[in-house]
Amino acid sequence: MQIKPGVRLLAGHLDPAAQAVLLAEVLEAARSAPFRRHKTPGGKAMSVAMTALGPLGWVSDRAGYRYQPSHPDTGEAWPPMPQALLDLWRQATGLAVAPDSCLVNRYEAGARMGLHQDRDEADLSFPVVSVSLGDTAVFRLGGLSRRDPTASLRLASGDVLVLEGEGRLVHHGVDRILAGSSRLVPGGGRINLTLRRAGPVALDSPLPPPQDQRKA
Ligand code: SIN
Ligand code: FE2
Repeated sequence: MQIKPGVRLLAGHLDPAAQAVLLAEVLEAARSAPFRRHKTPGGKAMSVAMTALGPLGWVSDRAGYRYQPSHPDTGEAWPPMPQALLDLWRQATGLAVAPDSCLVNRYEAGARMGLHQDRDEADLSFPVVSVSLGDTAVFRLGGLSRRDPTASLRLASGDVLVLEGEGRLVHHGVDRILAGSSRLVPGGGRINLTLRRAGPVALDSPLPPPQDQRKA
């Protein structure tokens, strides 16, 4: 369903069995890359705990926001992305180029994420694919300008949201999660996965996609 230009919701894209398998794979992969609450550039710990999978992971600290190839605490490379995520990206986008980053966000009761744009990626022509697992999120969707009107949208477990084309840079955030609305995540809460193409294509894809494959 098209929510607005460039914002596509694949409601219930993953059935409960697929959600359980994907969550188990992600949590297993993330065991060697512990969740941490990054500090904002202003020095405050974020309420959302994060880790990452794939060649690049998004991090934040006093120096700012960036993608880097290793976990800030362990110094180790981020764990690889499970194949199921690469398949999901291909299904949702139709792209031949693989994502090189999966940000894993863990929201416990009370966690939220302020309105922002995803713009730390090298090539903003690639979409962002967001997968919701566990408790329902009260998601806020705005426009290209921070001052544009916003709408509230619920993202339930198994939903996939794609930001692409003219929707790639819309402002978005998470007002709150509905604690206890799902029993998927052990101990409760919500896990959100965002698949992205963060680095320059040349780094790990010798064949950049033909232009006509860059859009779903
Ligand atoms: C994000 O914008 O990084 C996360 C969005 C979400 O948790 O749904
Ligand atoms: Fe975001």
